Amino acid sequence: MALLDVNDLNVRFQTNSGPVYAVRGVDMKLDRGETLAIVGESGSGKSQTVFAMMGLLAGNGEASGSVKFDGTEILNAAPKVLNPIRANRMAIIFQDPMTSLNPYMRVSDQMAEVLQLHKGMSKRAAVKEAAQMLDAVRIPDAASRVNLYPHEFSGGMRQRVMIAMALLCRPDVLIADEPTTALDVTVQAQIMKLLHELQKEFGMALILITHDLGVVAGSAERVIVMYGGQVMEKGPVHPLFAEPTHPYTRGLLGSVPRVDRQDEALLSIPGNPPNMAKMHRGCPFAPRCDFAGDDCVDHLDPLTEFAPGRYRACNRPVSVVTGGSQ
Ligand SMILES: Nc1ncnc2c1ncn2[C@@H]1O[C@H](COP(=O)(O)OP(=O)(O)O)[C@@H](O)[C@H]1O
Ligand SMILES: [Mg+2]
Repeated sequence: MALLDVNDLNVRFQTNSGPVYAVRGVDMKLDRGETLAIVGESGSGKSQTVFAMMGLLAGNGEASGSVKFDGTEILNAAPKVLNPIRANRMAIIFQDPMTSLNPYMRVSDQMAEVLQLHKGMSKRAAVKEAAQMLDAVRIPDAASRVNLYPHEFSGGMRQRVMIAMALLCRPDVLIADEPTTALDVTVQAQIMKLLHELQKEFGMALILITHDLGVVAGSAERVIVMYGGQVMEKGPVHPLFAEPTHPYTRGLLGSVPRVDRQDEALLSIPGNPPNMAKMHRGCPFAPRCDFAGDDCVDHLDPLTEFAPGRYRACNRPVSVVTGGSQ
C-alpha cells in the first residue's frame, strides 16, 4: 500500500468573480522513503494540491476527491483524525520560514512546545531534543543558538530552523513547498543537499515542490508536471528529463539554464500562465502550445501511460511534438 494515495483531487475557490478551479483531477501516489517532485510555473496549482491534502486550504476553498494516508482517508476528515497525522506523520515547510516560526518566541521555546504537546516531554528534555535537532540540520553551536529568536538567524539558517521544527516529530512524509526560493543560489544548493541527507537519515518520503527543474534532476525519483491545475505529464525523473514528451514539459525544460550551453539564449515559453478564473474546457496549455490542433481548446486527453510508468495528457504523436521519429 502506498503511504500516500491521492485520487481525483479537486480544489475550488469561491471568489467574487466566480469559482476558481485551482486543482483538477490530480492523482498521485507516494511510497515510503521516496522523493516526488511537483513542478510547474507559478499558479499551476502545486501548493493548493498539498494544502488540500493537509487540510490547509483558505476559508473560501473546498476540496473533493480522496487522500489516503497509510490507508486512512484524511481529505476533509474530522480534526480527531487529521490532527494526529498532521502533528506526527506529515510535516510541511514553506517558502518563507516566518510562516511557521513565531517571531516573538525563542526557538527553544517554540520547538519545545511542539514536543511537550505532541510527545508529552518535559520542558527540559524537549529543549535538549530541540538543540539536537538544530545540530542535525547542521546549525553550528546548536546548544547555545537554540536560545535565540528567529530574526537572529540568517535567511539560510532560519530555513534550517524551520526544517528542524518540521522534523521534530519524525514525520513519515515531509512536504517542502519551494523551500529555497527566497534564498540566494549558494544557500539554495546547501539547503537542497541538507534535505536530501536528512531524508536518508530519517527515512522519510519527500514531496518537493519547485518551479526550478534544475533542483529536481538531482534529487527526485519521480516528477509530476502541473499546468493550469492539472497534471500534464508524470513519470520517473531520468527518462522524463532525457526525453520530455508533453509540449509543456518540453517548454519548461527549454527554459532551464544549462551549464553546458552558456552561449545559447534561454528559451522561455511564450505567453502567460492561464487565468484560472477564466478557463476553457480543453487542454489548459493549448493557447500557448505550438503543437495544438483545433480540438485541443475543447478537449483534454486523459493522462495515459505511453511507456512503462510514464504518463502524459496529450495524444499528439510524439514525433510531431519532438520532431523525432518515435
Ligand atoms: N484563496 C484563494 N482564492 C482564490 N484563488 C486562489 C486562492 N488561493 C489560491 N488561488 C488560486 O489557485 C491557483 C493555484 O495556486 P497555487 O497552488 O498556490 O499555485 P502554485 O503552483 O504557484 O503553488 C492560482 O491561480 C491561485 O490564484
Ligand atoms: Mg506555490
